[in-house]
Amino acid sequence: MLKSNRNRFIQASRQLLSIRPKHSSFRPVITRLQHTKVSSSSNSSSSEERPGLFSPFFSPTAEEQAEEKARRHYPRLTAYDTANCKSPPTCNKMLVRDFIDDSLYNPNYGYFSKQAVIFSPETDFDFNRMRDHLEFMNVLGQLYKDIEGEADEVDEVARQVWHTPTELFKPWYGYAIAKYLVSEYKLNLFPHKDLIIYEMGAGNGTLMMNILDYIQQNEPAVYKRTQYNIIEISGKLAERQAERQDVREAKDQHTCVKIINKSIFDWDIHVPDQCFFLGMEVIDNFAHDLIRYDLETLKPYQALVSTDAKGEYTEVYEPVGSDALINRYLAMRDQTRYRSPVVSKHLWLKCLQSLPLAPNMTSAEFIPTKLFMLLETLKTHFPQHRLVLSDFSSLPDSVDGVDAPVVQTRYRGTMVPCSTYMVQPGWFDIFFPTNFELLRDLYLLVCRGSRAGNDKTVKVLTHREFCERYGDVERTATRSGENPMLMYYENMKMIIT
Ligand SMILES: C[S@@+](CC[C@H](N)C(=O)[O-])C[C@H]1O[C@@H](n2cnc3c(N)ncnc32)[C@H](O)[C@@H]1O
Repeated sequence: MLKSNRNRFIQASRQLLSIRPKHSSFRPVITRLQHTKVSSSSNSSSSEERPGLFSPFFSPTAEEQAEEKARRHYPRLTAYDTANCKSPPTCNKMLVRDFIDDSLYNPNYGYFSKQAVIFSPETDFDFNRMRDHLEFMNVLGQLYKDIEGEADEVDEVARQVWHTPTELFKPWYGYAIAKYLVSEYKLNLFPHKDLIIYEMGAGNGTLMMNILDYIQQNEPAVYKRTQYNIIEISGKLAERQAERQDVREAKDQHTCVKIINKSIFDWDIHVPDQCFFLGMEVIDNFAHDLIRYDLETLKPYQALVSTDAKGEYTEVYEPVGSDALINRYLAMRDQTRYRSPVVSKHLWLKCLQSLPLAPNMTSAEFIPTKLFMLLETLKTHFPQHRLVLSDFSSLPDSVDGVDAPVVQTRYRGTMVPCSTYMVQPGWFDIFFPTNFELLRDLYLLVCRGSRAGNDKTVKVLTHREFCERYGDVERTATRSGENPMLMYYENMKMIIT
């Protein structure tokens, strides 16, 4: 009982919730898998197709054949190409990461361009006065209900509500991060260098305020040398972050803060200084690509989402090779200890092939291409950074596949989970778990140029381990001794470097 409650909490803890306008209807989603051989470049419109996954026994209808013919001439678009579209375009093909990026981040209809609310209790919880973690859950449940009520009133807006450890355990979670930063800074840089912090995706600005408050109150000498920079994709949230300072009396404002309203993927400034780079609950929405392997040859194929004139989606496949980012990712991953679970069971794959109605490709594997791009950005533009990233290491109710995302929306108070990421752009949250152990190995190769295992300064900790080490476990304990900051978010991990 306790366990299932907790799991439900974890599940609810990071779900973006949204409400569809009353009069719009869900668009049916058609998903088929096609194993496509593209002969030359990625833009080639003459693709030589193999039978679809289950097609040897079902010949395509005339309509499907016509659709198939039309699809070959669809232009191939990226999320940059669609950024100016006012509504999701049809008759095109996109790599899966571009399709997901467009669904989430398109400035006009993307999920994030709708009003985002990051759940933030007005007053901090007084854990010491609570009976136990169930009381905390009940208080939280009530507050959350109130927010949902408010959201329901804003019926025409697909409103999103995030819960994050930063907000639920404020100021203690921020203080824990601050304690870690200050101890590392004092060990290595103080008093010769400034404490320079970059925070990617700062939400309401709560972590920034809590970190700076902690340093100001506990480490005045360090505070004098602190610079805090926020890199925030959302214009609305960047404004909110600035307002956090404005509502304070002038003497309590942190004047060392600079807010830069842009995506980390558009970052082009060289930062040669030694600095800390933070990102709490940002990477789970970084788009992934999808690959499958040919069952016979085990060669990887990359998926594209083809959208037809009716706005229906079909997954089509082409051999890996035409996309530079996927190529770089797979080449780098080959240098790690990681072996894809979808190809590691050779015997099983052989058996599978001999079955009637056998598929011609393995099951799906989602690969974190945009996260890999973040590592490249860190290497190029922040060569002397130290990283603090936290996010989900696993997620319940994901769609099928390795490292597959959770795809969901909320409709009139009810969660609507989906079994595919190919859903109408803008109405669904799509978020991924992170394989932190693989991330660590990739980080070492990209940012440190060293092989996995050689550098003990790059660590993966669970949320609990980090909070036990740096958090104030007394102030976050309830009267029964239970500590919600340690108990919840057990599916979160952190990489610190
Ligand atoms: C789930 S919220 C987390 C907010 C905050 N870090 C916290 O833990 O409460 C994700 C934040 O990342 C921002 N974000 C998402 N993608 C981004 C990107 N590519 N570049 C910069 N910020 C991004 C969002 O606008 C939002 O502020």
